[in-house]
Amino acid sequence: MKFSNKVFPLLFAFTFILSIHEISNAIDTITTTQTLRDGKTIVSSDGTFELGFFSPGNSKNRYVGMWYKKITDMKVVWVANREVPLTNTSGVLLKVVEPGLLVLQNDSNGVVIWSSNTSRHVKSPVAKLLDSGNLVVKDTNDDDPEKFLWESFNYPTDTMFSGMKLGWSSKTDHEVYLSSWKSKDDPSTGEFTCHFDPTGYPQEVVKKGLMVIYKTGPWNGVRYSGSLTLRKDPMYKYGVVLNKNEAYYYFDVLYRSIVSTSTLMANGAAETIWVNPTNVWVTNSTTGADICDIYGFCGAYGSCNIANSPVCGCFDKFLPKDPDGWNRKNWSNGCIRRTPLNCLDGDVFLKYTGIKLPDTQYSRINESMTLEECKVVCLKNCTCMAYTNLDITRGGSGCLLWFKELINIKILPEAGQDIYIRMSSSELDKNINKLAVHSEGKRRKILITSLTSLMGVVLLGLSLMLYFWKRKKNVPKGRTGGSIIKDFELPLFDLPTISKATNNFSINNKLGQGGYGLVYKGTLEDGEDIAVKRLSETSMQGLDEFMNEVMCIAKLQHRNLVKLLGCCIQGEEKMLVYEYMPNKSLDFILFDQAKSRLLDWPKRFHIINDVARGLLYLHQDSRMRIIHRDLKASNILLDADMNPRISDFGLAKSFGGNEAEAKTGRVVGTHGYMSPEYVVDGLFSLKSDVFSFGVLVLEIVSGRKNWGFSHSDHRFNLLGHAWILYKEGRSLELVGTCSDDSEYFNEVLRSIHVGLLCVQKCPGDRPRMSTVVFMLENDGALPEAKQPGFFTEREVFPAESSTSTNAAISSCKMSITLPEGR
Ligand SMILES: *[C@@H]1O[C@H](CO)[C@@H](O)[C@H](O)[C@H]1NC(C)=O
Ligand SMILES: *[C@@H]1O[C@H](CO)[C@@H](O)[C@H](O)[C@H]1NC(C)=O
Ligand SMILES: *[C@@H]1O[C@H](CO)[C@@H](O)[C@H](O)[C@H]1NC(C)=O
Ligand SMILES: *[C@@H]1O[C@H](CO)[C@@H](O)[C@H](O)[C@H]1NC(C)=O
Ligand SMILES: *[C@@H]1O[C@H](CO)[C@@H](O)[C@H](O)[C@H]1NC(C)=O
Ligand SMILES: *[C@@H]1O[C@H](CO)[C@@H](O)[C@H](O)[C@H]1NC(C)=O
Ligand SMILES: *[C@@H]1O[C@H](CO)[C@@H](O)[C@H](O)[C@H]1NC(C)=O
Repeated sequence: MKFSNKVFPLLFAFTFILSIHEISNAIDTITTTQTLRDGKTIVSSDGTFELGFFSPGNSKNRYVGMWYKKITDMKVVWVANREVPLTNTSGVLLKVVEPGLLVLQNDSNGVVIWSSNTSRHVKSPVAKLLDSGNLVVKDTNDDDPEKFLWESFNYPTDTMFSGMKLGWSSKTDHEVYLSSWKSKDDPSTGEFTCHFDPTGYPQEVVKKGLMVIYKTGPWNGVRYSGSLTLRKDPMYKYGVVLNKNEAYYYFDVLYRSIVSTSTLMANGAAETIWVNPTNVWVTNSTTGADICDIYGFCGAYGSCNIANSPVCGCFDKFLPKDPDGWNRKNWSNGCIRRTPLNCLDGDVFLKYTGIKLPDTQYSRINESMTLEECKVVCLKNCTCMAYTNLDITRGGSGCLLWFKELINIKILPEAGQDIYIRMSSSELDKNINKLAVHSEGKRRKILITSLTSLMGVVLLGLSLMLYFWKRKKNVPKGRTGGSIIKDFELPLFDLPTISKATNNFSINNKLGQGGYGLVYKGTLEDGEDIAVKRLSETSMQGLDEFMNEVMCIAKLQHRNLVKLLGCCIQGEEKMLVYEYMPNKSLDFILFDQAKSRLLDWPKRFHIINDVARGLLYLHQDSRMRIIHRDLKASNILLDADMNPRISDFGLAKSFGGNEAEAKTGRVVGTHGYMSPEYVVDGLFSLKSDVFSFGVLVLEIVSGRKNWGFSHSDHRFNLLGHAWILYKEGRSLELVGTCSDDSEYFNEVLRSIHVGLLCVQKCPGDRPRMSTVVFMLENDGALPEAKQPGFFTEREVFPAESSTSTNAAISSCKMSITLPEGR
């Protein structure tokens, strides 16, 4: 933007003669006898702000506006006639007219282009540009702010700066809000507005027209719950004022030398900039930049986490309301409690941490209540969905209650707040278990010192728990609901119950061999079918894997993972109790000629997609982030509707956020599914699971096993075979006979292609599971698949042979051409 000091030479004499009292620079006031013409400016007394005519951006139109005088890179912070541009620099002037209006007038015909407004009159009005940047109309001799006739701070354009208040005054019933420019060339009112919204409990709201696009989250005494850029700083103060006359947000710098403004940009983003010591504008922050800031992006009870892919998830103990829509990435329906509320029987509250608090439009507050009183109030009202502290300073105080569904929740791991969400009391049972165990632990310690027999103590602890749980209703017989091993929140079954359910572990009930023990089918007294995995008595190795599985699976919840119902640890016996899967495991059906007919292509494709989602959950979305390490057809269980569930977490490894790769001394897994870098170097990573998934996909498509595959034309395994067909454009030949419906050819080809991308030799080339899920679900070009790892079985086995070490990995950097099939 360029400010023009030029006046047309021809008009100069005219101007000069008519306006003897025209303002020269460095005056801060316009009176009834002094006028301001284009080319002249007024400046606040300390020289900070300047008011005059300007042209924005590339526009030739003229506007009356205000900017910081000392900063060469001119930023206009206020515009008077934003809706009515001047097309000519001449003949227009700004003057004060009695009884108290500041007007922008066409000199030649007296037409008023823009005017201030007032409900009061004074004898000798003046317009004065104050040092704060507030242009006020007032009585000459009265400096009381209460008596100003008009002030520009009450009519901001797109920019807020020190001294302004965004919000409401009930006295004038006037709202001060920001509205964006149309573009940087056009200061007229754009699409976006930014409001201080005190409804319920204050938050700032950015709207596009009437549509809410962003809410900051409620004020928490320190900042808006979701605005991390607001930080305590000795250079400025800011805050929210709420009383019966006013409700506003203010921002003040404590030193005049600090210049900082917040602007609602033409694109709806709010930008805070400040002037650095070399007098240059620097951007401090921009809001609305991440997708999780979009109002209600993940729907009710959906939690948006920008670190996740996809960003939307349901809170723990919540499920997608419309699972199909959710899978299609339509999050608008949000999530619902997996166990419906039952207010009359007494609901409970569960604590969720690290979040940007939900929309407070339907909220109530009490500043004097404690958190405990807050809970009591919320509990009593069945429509109260959550509560938390109103103010987070000094350890938290006050009470904020939410009515209606919770929406606009974002995960802020470092700076988020706690919230207590209403939940069915049955969800708490597990947490009570947790408490019971902790208290049992304490009791145990005390007793150990008084008694000497550890065994006696454990028995005492157990019987106490049994007593406690038998008194509780709703606990199925035999499922005593107690808890085991630290805090895994697992229901405990007792041995007689399991024994009875499995017909004393009858061989007729045997379902198969799991990673470390036999699996039995059982039926509980209430008729529920279960699968019991029993750790072989002597296996030490097995104990590790058992504990590993407990630790992993107990914390996982996903519809494509097998569900752990509980466990049983008694004496030497250690067992895990799972829900029963009537269709056993995938290998059982897939590789059986007769049974495989049950799996038509839509079912197969469904299985591929669901396994991908389950694996994605393990890798990215679960709290623990897990590498399965033994993904294979026999570990995919099928429920009555042939929905797959990933099982067997004996080998799974949890990993921290950053370490996505680890090395292991002992290579464990299943031939045919293990990636080259794992077999050769013991390196396992998310990408080793991706490899196994790729093998599984090719097995599902072809109905043939990778390990033990043979073909009359070549010596390659299934991967090699699929690769050759792919290279020759004959991928469809891989398909088993049951899937020859041309309607599905696209999905089939896509699956094979994705499968081959997953089994590429170099881990870096393989896609992540989030990409895999995306590629399977969406049409679109896929990258060319490179050569698979282990396309022949004889390539690098035996695993521990040191001579073969690195053969597969080092070749990742070389380009290898595949031997042509004969
Ligand atoms: C002022 O009025 C004159 C006469 O009507 C007109 O020609 C001129 O364009 C007007 N100037 C502005 C800036 O509107
Ligand atoms: C401005 O207005 C004057 C007189 O009203 C006219 O002569 C002149 O051409 C106008 N200039 C522009 C750029 O329109
Ligand atoms: C001016 O103020 C009056 C009353 O205070 C109000 O009714 C009117 O709408 C205002 N006009 C403008 C242009 O703001
Ligand atoms: C802007 O950022 C600078 C440096 O990061 C900091 O010193 C200053 O206080 C910030 N100003 C505002 C208003 O946030
Ligand atoms: C998402 O679901 C909602 C509600 O079911 C529906 O109104 C909307 O059109 C859907 N959006 C898309 C993009 O499919
Ligand atoms: C807030 O809670 C206190 C204590 O329960 C009560 O005395 C007071 O009336 C409440 N205030 C409001 C405004 O509800
Ligand atoms: C529960 O709270 C809502 C919202 O404040 C209120 O309208 C309703 O009357 C309350 N119900 C009871 C039983 O107190």
